[in-house]
Amino acid sequence: MKSQSRLKEFCKLYLPCRFRFSLILLCSFAASLFTLLIPLCVSKITNIVIDMDSSEALSKLLPVCGVMLALAVLEMLFNYFYDFYGHKLGAEMENALRQKLFAHLTRLSSSEYDEFRVGQLMSSLTNDLLDLTELFHHGPEDYVTSIVKFIGTGIILVSVCGPLSLIAFLCIPVMALYTLYFSHKVRIISRKNRQDISDINAQAEDLLSGIRVVQAYGQEAQAERRFAAAGKRFFHSRTGIYFIESVEYQGVQFLLQLMTILVVGCCAVLISKGSIPVSVLVAFLMYVGYLTEPIRRIAGMTNQYQQGMAGFERVMHFMEMEPEIRDAADAESFLECRGEIRMEHVSFSYRQETGEVLHDISFTIPAGGYAAVTGESGVGKSTLCRLIPRFYEPDSGNIYIDGKNIRSLKLADLRSQIAYVQQDAYLFDGTIEENIRFGREDAAEEEIRQAARYAMADDFIMALPDGYQSLTGPKGVRLSGGQKQRICLARAFLKNAPILILDEATSALDSRTEAQVIAAMEAQRKGKTTLVIAHRLSTVEHAQQLLHFEDGRITGPDKAYRRN
Ligand SMILES: Nc1ncnc2c1ncn2[C@@H]1O[C@H](COP(=O)(O)OP(=O)(O)OP(=O)(O)O)[C@@H](O)[C@H]1O
Ligand SMILES: [Mg+2]
Repeated sequence: MKSQSRLKEFCKLYLPCRFRFSLILLCSFAASLFTLLIPLCVSKITNIVIDMDSSEALSKLLPVCGVMLALAVLEMLFNYFYDFYGHKLGAEMENALRQKLFAHLTRLSSSEYDEFRVGQLMSSLTNDLLDLTELFHHGPEDYVTSIVKFIGTGIILVSVCGPLSLIAFLCIPVMALYTLYFSHKVRIISRKNRQDISDINAQAEDLLSGIRVVQAYGQEAQAERRFAAAGKRFFHSRTGIYFIESVEYQGVQFLLQLMTILVVGCCAVLISKGSIPVSVLVAFLMYVGYLTEPIRRIAGMTNQYQQGMAGFERVMHFMEMEPEIRDAADAESFLECRGEIRMEHVSFSYRQETGEVLHDISFTIPAGGYAAVTGESGVGKSTLCRLIPRFYEPDSGNIYIDGKNIRSLKLADLRSQIAYVQQDAYLFDGTIEENIRFGREDAAEEEIRQAARYAMADDFIMALPDGYQSLTGPKGVRLSGGQKQRICLARAFLKNAPILILDEATSALDSRTEAQVIAAMEAQRKGKTTLVIAHRLSTVEHAQQLLHFEDGRITGPDKAYRRN
């Protein structure tokens, strides 16, 4: 049932390009017809050569040869058209599906990403979709050419010699059953193989991203062992596929040879008795190949189909994941924001089995207020911040901005009102300018520099040989921890949103630079609601409100602390 509905979904992908696709199928149909006609000409030539004298034969041969040549040219042209444009269409469909999958992945929620391994996603975006391109193109055209050749050959063989063709047809069900049996096995093992290759990707991604840790602890051998274990699993399933494919292919080949031997033997007996002319043998020898080629092809295509569908299934597995956090049906726009943040009895756990991280949190930060969040490591400070832009949803309780429950707001609007510097200071592989511009795509160059000045980043950026065009490297590896943090700060300042959340955004800076950043932020805060997480009290000495956390709760007298 499931595979049927998958096939339906797969077929739907052809809908947007149905006209081009139909033309391609038509060409493959025509090319197969031309291919079928050529052996008929050969059979005709055999009759001419055997039955006529040489002068008469020559005058008859020329037109038949001309027809053969014309058929060969037409076959080539139609083959070219369906081969090239068919592949092009396949690549186009693959690309469209890849874009769709990527767009879908960008919408999934943080809780879903907590369960993913990035390498597995990469594998789906590349390998699975490559398998699909082959299926997109080869699948339908190969079926058309195979079916046309099979039926056409059957009709021709019956009309040339009915009893002989019966021998050929008797062998076909055996081959078909044999092929079906193995194709089922290939499908199962292909699915496992796809999973194994995605595990390899995930291991490589994990180990190579953390190569400095691997080297610092001298754990290259352990890393190799982990990678080798994934490699071994892949090797076993791959070998399994080769084994089944090989047994299947060789079995079909053997049955084909058996069929040819039977046909040739019977033909020879009938010719020696004078019951059929030699041209029948010629026709049979050529057409038996045509009869068996589609079966051989379908056997090959079955494997391709199994692999392609296994890839499709994995792609669809991701595509069918609904983002856990998304707009409500009647979500409100939220483009004007004053910035009052209120939490009411909020409790939250990442997973039920790991227990609550935040317990019954309630507080209000007035619009334009400046709150500091402090507390020991692991108490839930970052978690609290992640709830405000709805990266995660509270288990109970509500969060309000300007008195509006954030669940009732459009997610994109809500997030557009928040500039959030996360604890891990993530930079993308690109230039410094591109990384800052992420805050606001249409920002002018001077605005980018101004944001960098507020973040105390302009001086060090200008000191780099390529200035703002310097490359950061993947995850910003070419920059120091403090430099990365300042670029992330500049990105948030550039966004210029009414709510600013800084999660230990200056922790890697020296005290003097940190003080300068804080002073600059204070000067340009201009009524923005600010929430700052810091371990050093000096970082938040200007805060008007202090939320001190202990074990997932706001505790002690600090709860109501206000400086003014
Ligand atoms: N994505 C996640 N999935 C499951 N548990 C998580 C996740 N992120 C954090 N936690 C757990 O939630 C708890 C609070 O983590 P959080 O990051 O909020 O702490 P924190 O107060 O910010 O600590 P630090 O000062 O070290 O940054 C920790 O026990 C942590 O193990
Ligand atoms: Mg934290």
